[in-house]
Amino acid sequence: MIAKIQGLLEEVEKLQAATKEEAEALRIKYLGKKGIVNDLMADFRNVPAEMKKEVGMKLNELKNKAQEKINALKDAADAKDNVADDIDLTRTPYPIALGTRHPITIVKNEIVDIFSRLSFTLAEGPEIEDDWHVYSSMNFADDHPARDMQDTFFVEAHPDIVLRSHTSSVQARVMERQQPPIRVICPGRVYRNEAISARAHCFFHQVEGLYVDRNVSFTDLKQVLLLFAQEMFGKETKIRLRPSYFPFTEPSAEMDISCDICGGKGCSFCKHTGWVEILGCGMVDPAVLDANGIDSKVYTGYAFGMGIERITNLKYKVKDLRMFSENDTRFLEEFKSAN
Ligand code: DAH
Repeated sequence: MIAKIQGLLEEVEKLQAATKEEAEALRIKYLGKKGIVNDLMADFRNVPAEMKKEVGMKLNELKNKAQEKINALKDAADAKDNVADDIDLTRTPYPIALGTRHPITIVKNEIVDIFSRLSFTLAEGPEIEDDWHVYSSMNFADDHPARDMQDTFFVEAHPDIVLRSHTSSVQARVMERQQPPIRVICPGRVYRNEAISARAHCFFHQVEGLYVDRNVSFTDLKQVLLLFAQEMFGKETKIRLRPSYFPFTEPSAEMDISCDICGGKGCSFCKHTGWVEILGCGMVDPAVLDANGIDSKVYTGYAFGMGIERITNLKYKVKDLRMFSENDTRFLEEFKSAN
């Protein structure tokens, strides 16, 4: 009997099945109720007692091997079937969906592009900054409210390190390593400790501009900003400068553009004034030049800073600031044509 089982073991090892049906037939032949293995089990009764252990083990081996082999044949037949059913190699492929640029990136690129045509070069600085670059070098008094915890995110255990609350810090980064002429445009992300709502967010984006040279005047600033506004919002756009205050500029101003929704006649978007604010600007305070190693007796400069979200809202009428950071592809796809 041992020899017979050994012969069957070798036979099982060589079994082949091209289809699931063939494999099933083999299962019935070897492992079915009236199959070879069961027949042998019936014969087992007649095996002499002293042989029972050896024969029993061999018989079990045959049963397990047959099971394993037939399962493997079934799996292989299955896999073959699936390939044949699921893949139609003659079908044309689906069009590959292209991603779209984020509206903030689109507008940032446009702003940088306009200023690069006026010979401004790109400058960047870190988002995690020290107090010196964000505040002290920018002429903020020690007790200035912007330094307050309510406005600024501090890095825990480092009272001197903050998440920059404006890109004006890049002005200091540039001036400390370069003498005039300086003409830079600095886009980047900024952080403020604000509750998130449709109109405020704890992070947003700004573009800072800085021009320092001999004889830079307020007229230069006005002319460059007018050109920017007209490139960005159309040739008909008018600008208006209102006196304001920033620690790092003197004199300082805020700039409005004529409302492009009502053409300046007055509507709900511009709160019936005909004007919408888009940026802050001014002549670099001599104290800022001196603090950053530039001789204020020789050089003068202008600076400006604007929020990219604000400009994007004006161009694309996005009402809720939260849309910019949710990464909802339906929102992003609306900007396909602007890419
Ligand atoms: N840093 C200002 C802010 O975050 C914006 C600003 C105003 C930047 C006037 C300037 C400037 O360079 O001259 O609100």
